[in-house]
Amino acid sequence: MLRFAENVQSPSAATTGKSLALLGTGLVGSAFLARLSRLHADGAAKNLRLVHAANSRRCISDRAGLAPANARTRLDDGECQQIEAVGTALPASGIIVDATASEDVAAWHPRWLAAGFSVVTANKAGTGGELARYRAIQAHASRYGDAATVGAGLPLLRSLRELRAGGDRILGLAGVLSGSLAWLFNHYDGMRPFSVLVREARQRGYTEPDPRLDLSGQDVKRKLLILARNAGHSLDAEAVTVESLLPEALVRAAADEVDAALAALDEPLRERFREAHRIGRCPRFVARLDREGRARIGLESLLPEDPLASGSGCDNRLAIWSDRYSDGPLVIQGPGAGAEVTAAALLDDVFRLAKTAD
Ligand SMILES: NC(=O)c1ccc[n+]([C@@H]2O[C@H](COP(=O)([O-])OP(=O)(O)OC[C@H]3O[C@@H](n4cnc5c(N)ncnc54)[C@H](OP(=O)(O)O)[C@@H]3O)[C@@H](O)[C@H]2O)c1
Repeated sequence: MLRFAENVQSPSAATTGKSLALLGTGLVGSAFLARLSRLHADGAAKNLRLVHAANSRRCISDRAGLAPANARTRLDDGECQQIEAVGTALPASGIIVDATASEDVAAWHPRWLAAGFSVVTANKAGTGGELARYRAIQAHASRYGDAATVGAGLPLLRSLRELRAGGDRILGLAGVLSGSLAWLFNHYDGMRPFSVLVREARQRGYTEPDPRLDLSGQDVKRKLLILARNAGHSLDAEAVTVESLLPEALVRAAADEVDAALAALDEPLRERFREAHRIGRCPRFVARLDREGRARIGLESLLPEDPLASGSGCDNRLAIWSDRYSDGPLVIQGPGAGAEVTAAALLDDVFRLAKTAD
């Protein structure tokens, strides 16, 4: 049975506070709703009112407030989803939360910001896509919450911004930025076929349903673009050199042939592992930005004492060299994937913007 606080908004919340719209009710969106519901029940989110929710098919709106606990179920009886509905559902200065991976939704970020809304996002297509869109968003940076786009809320972007605000130049970045690729290379020992590990990672929910999205490096590319741009380098998307892990057979495989084609990974990766092992190194999938703003992504053979070679599970790791960290980098490490931490990062940004945006 739903508790009162989960089911309805208090009258004061219905007339005061900050209104939210949530786009996307998949893994992250559902975790966001569950967390918001719990915070309402605890009295910790009295000032936040969910007035609109949508997935790719349906949407529901109520300016008096929707109960987060059952918003997802109620969507089944909602209206047909139309992205324009968000702007009319929200009062001025409301906050739009993007928990989709949609290019179409990301294209709206600059328009919503220009219209006075705040945007909080886990969707990397906003600032990790075309440079013109990044710049349009930057013009309203104080109303944009992006902590969930890289490292699922680890203080990566925040640290870069604080270093630069304190006068430091960012001299270089190197990171293990994909939870799934971190897990794969933390576990790969050259004995078990790599394809077996990929299947295990997929079953554990660490990879996308189609693991090619992880193995191609495209997801990491977006994250490196976001970091590089926030480090002061206005990189075009095409400026990043990406060494995909995908052999041709996997690139060409139809969706229902992917599983069988995974075996094409085994021999090339066994060879890379052997080569690295012979010289006492370990392979890791690394994203790098150098001092001149050159960005590249691919498999590297690292010394065991390299800060990017340690860590466990799906941990993300980022090394930052700056004026004050020039001898040795500042290293930030922690769980950088997962719906719960991502939803928490989204809500942290919502709380921050709810305090400042009026
Ligand atoms: N999962 C993680 O651990 C994690 C970590 C960090 C960041 N992220 C990022 O968070 C975002 C969401 O990830 P997820 O794992 O929750 O994905 P997901 O489970 O695939 O959910 C995506 C949601 O977006 C909805 N959607 C798609 N297009 C839409 C549109 N035009 N309008 C409204 N809703 C739309 C989908 O609707 P339907 O339900 O109708 O399909 C679905 O509810 C992605 O950008 C992802 O990269 C995820």
